[in-house]
Amino acid sequence: MSELLEKIRKRRTFAIISHPDAGKTTLTEKLLLYGGAIHLAGSVKARKSNRHAVSDWMEIEKQRGISVTSSVLQFDYDGYRVNILDTPGHQDFSEDTYRTLMAADSAVMLIDAAKGVEPQTKKLFWVCHRRHLPIFTFVNKLDRYGRNPFDLMDELEQVLGIRAYPIDWPIGIDGNYKGVYNRMENTIQLFEEDGSHGAKQLKSTTGSLDDPKIKEMLGEELYENLVNDIELLDMAGDEFDMERVNKGELTPMFFGSAMTNFGVQSFLEKFLELSPEPQPRALQNGEIIDPANEKFSAFVFKIQANMNPAHRDRISFIRICSGKFEKGMTVYHKQSGKPIKLAQPQQFMAQERTIVEEAYPGDIIGLFDPGIFGIGDSLSDNSLKLQFEDFPVFPPEIFARVQPKDSLKRKQFEKGIIQLSQEGAIQVFKQEGVGMESYIVGVVGVLQLEVLEYRLKNEYSAQLVMNQLPYSVARWVYAEDKKAVENLKGLDNGMLVYDKKGRPVILVNNEWALNWILDRNPGIEFLTVPADVDQI
Ligand code: G4P
Repeated sequence: MSELLEKIRKRRTFAIISHPDAGKTTLTEKLLLYGGAIHLAGSVKARKSNRHAVSDWMEIEKQRGISVTSSVLQFDYDGYRVNILDTPGHQDFSEDTYRTLMAADSAVMLIDAAKGVEPQTKKLFWVCHRRHLPIFTFVNKLDRYGRNPFDLMDELEQVLGIRAYPIDWPIGIDGNYKGVYNRMENTIQLFEEDGSHGAKQLKSTTGSLDDPKIKEMLGEELYENLVNDIELLDMAGDEFDMERVNKGELTPMFFGSAMTNFGVQSFLEKFLELSPEPQPRALQNGEIIDPANEKFSAFVFKIQANMNPAHRDRISFIRICSGKFEKGMTVYHKQSGKPIKLAQPQQFMAQERTIVEEAYPGDIIGLFDPGIFGIGDSLSDNSLKLQFEDFPVFPPEIFARVQPKDSLKRKQFEKGIIQLSQEGAIQVFKQEGVGMESYIVGVVGVLQLEVLEYRLKNEYSAQLVMNQLPYSVARWVYAEDKKAVENLKGLDNGMLVYDKKGRPVILVNNEWALNWILDRNPGIEFLTVPADVDQI
């Protein structure tokens, strides 16, 4: 096997998707601990406490500074090189959160055993699902009361439309769980009885369910219950089918407790075994690039501007898609049509930045960017000059009208707005017949509006007048007859705007309003992504 192929086989790049408080920080920390990256564990925690204190601008700046350093966490485990992509949540939930998923080859969906599928999990799931990413489910907080696992499986199917194959099964009655049975390995793991939250050795044993020692260990009632559940699963549940997992149609399901370490290591090992290595990527021309192609290629999936006016650096994060990356190499930047030397590649590990000497498909690198890169840009070997398929646009949910406070600052204002939209921090829309100095901006997280105001003032010396608009739903409008779009009926409580490519978009207050308008305009279609982008 070539060196490149060997590196690819042993790489895993994934994101953890969850609703706030499901335990993502805790799980990430535990995974890092197993990877021996002990000094990182504290910093993950520090990031968390920072998230709760967004009281002033210094805080946000600090927070952003820290989130730069934790865009990807890398560790080695059992010969694997693991890249965990950080998907910002809480107040800093933004389009970045969605875009990060473009750089992943699989996702771990973390669910609170008592709460099931929550709104943010749902949003992130759909982004993964549209890309057909394999999704692995970890049901967390099994150490305390949780819902019936059949119920949770049913919810995954009803709400997300995905079937589950439980690899573990909780042992217990009425939501009080004692441990898990692993259906693939025929092993039983029980919680420690002293209820300590430490990482102590747990009671565990191996053996099939008809082994008398298992019965003895569990006691009559728990045993009967478990046997019945497993029988039901074997009879009525899905077969394990890796092909369906890879297409994102079946999710392997695990149960455990990140806080008490229960089930985390066995999950990690099974996940590394089953999850995909770096996958081929689609190009604009319909072809694909294989990671084992010896020639380098990568795309930009995230741009982080440092808000500190003293250092105006932007960092562009790239995901390597093929070939080997070497420090100082010169690559072709498709969008500018220029060769670019990648002189100071950085890898971000907790609080430290380290210079990267070499990297492989699946790895993430940060590049200092003098303002040339945009989201979705393609970098590749000079002989390839390839272009990856367009990055998806996500429908924003928060809108504001912005204009410069001082019209003499119009130029700076426009420059700032355009650059921030190129960076992907905001989406910009225009309203027909409204002058150049007024824009509608759309974002997916409310913090982004504050960041916009702050950055325009500090980086472009342009103060804003900003009025938040009462809309929360955006849809690209499609109709054969262009006139029908301009004369849309029933838009009394909404607004028609145009995106930066001139495609019509309506903004309304809720989903109900969409149906109201649809009923009055035969031949019109509403799309969550523009018509010429058919897949996320
Ligand atoms: P997040 O990043 O997804 O937002 O979640 P985070 O890990 O911060 O966890 C949210 C809360 O849930 C924390 O409690 C954490 O300790 C708890 N938690 C995480 N995993 C488990 C688990 O397996 N079992 C139980 N019982 N709790 C769990 P907190 O009180 O908000 O914070 P802390 O004081 O414990 O740090």
